[in-house]
Amino acid sequence: MPAENIIECEGLTMSFGSLKVLDGIDITVGAGENYGILGPNGSGKTTLIRILCGLVKPTSGSVKVFGREVPDRRNNRLIGYMTQMDALYNDLTVRENVRFFASVYGLKGHEREKRIDEVLDVVKLSERQESIVGTLSGGMKKRVSIACVLAHRPRLMFLDEPTVGVDPKLRNQFWDYFRDLNSQGVTLIVTTHIMDEAERCRRLSFLREGKKLIEGHPQYLKEQAGVPTLEEAYMYYSEGGSNGR
Ligand SMILES: Nc1ncnc2c1ncn2[C@@H]1O[C@H](COP(=O)(O)OP(=O)(O)OP(=O)(O)O)[C@@H](O)[C@H]1O
Ligand SMILES: [Mg+2]
Repeated sequence: MPAENIIECEGLTMSFGSLKVLDGIDITVGAGENYGILGPNGSGKTTLIRILCGLVKPTSGSVKVFGREVPDRRNNRLIGYMTQMDALYNDLTVRENVRFFASVYGLKGHEREKRIDEVLDVVKLSERQESIVGTLSGGMKKRVSIACVLAHRPRLMFLDEPTVGVDPKLRNQFWDYFRDLNSQGVTLIVTTHIMDEAERCRRLSFLREGKKLIEGHPQYLKEQAGVPTLEEAYMYYSEGGSNGR
């Protein structure tokens, strides 16, 4: 069990006008964890990630990342954020996109080019590196986004639905790679609507209407819902955890 807490979030509340999007969220995540956030559309997953990255200021609560109250510029280099929407330059090639992200984080020269080769290999796009991103398939674009976020070797990665549109075989390979990253001490926070991916997280939390309903190992979520599969547990919690039981 890693002793170091990478994320410590207490009583986090976020409102947009009169809309309360996050309501009293407590979350602690340790180094090298693989932590999944589940919940229906609009339950606050992306908003939570944006706050943890320091991109938006919460309405109230205490949020520390790497032991520092967010936002803190010193965290920027340590964090990689793959947004839900592709943030790629469609008129640049695959390699140029990855190079752009690597450069923003200060990688230079030979070291940078070597790192680009490595991450392109991870996402199996070495052969398409000269293709213009706008001409790629949807799943390939996702893979470019993953390469971009890996480039500067972040210690904490937020992956907001990272594998939407990625084919099952490659998805599996990504998750094997994510596990390797975890074993190197990299912390991953992932949102997904795909239950076989959620099953691969060490801990999951379920958000509903901005509240954390439950948190724990996938098995724990199933047990508490009294069902054999995570799909069924998902249905149970998305109805508020009652479902007539
Ligand atoms: N900048 C904003 N201004 C106003 N409302 C916002 C803003 N950002 C998010 N919201 C609202 O906050 C709620 C939560 O949105 P969020 O994107 O966090 O959900 P999500 O759990 O990531 O959903 P999905 O599964 O669809 O990605 C939604 O009702 C959304 O409309
Ligand atoms: Mg979202």
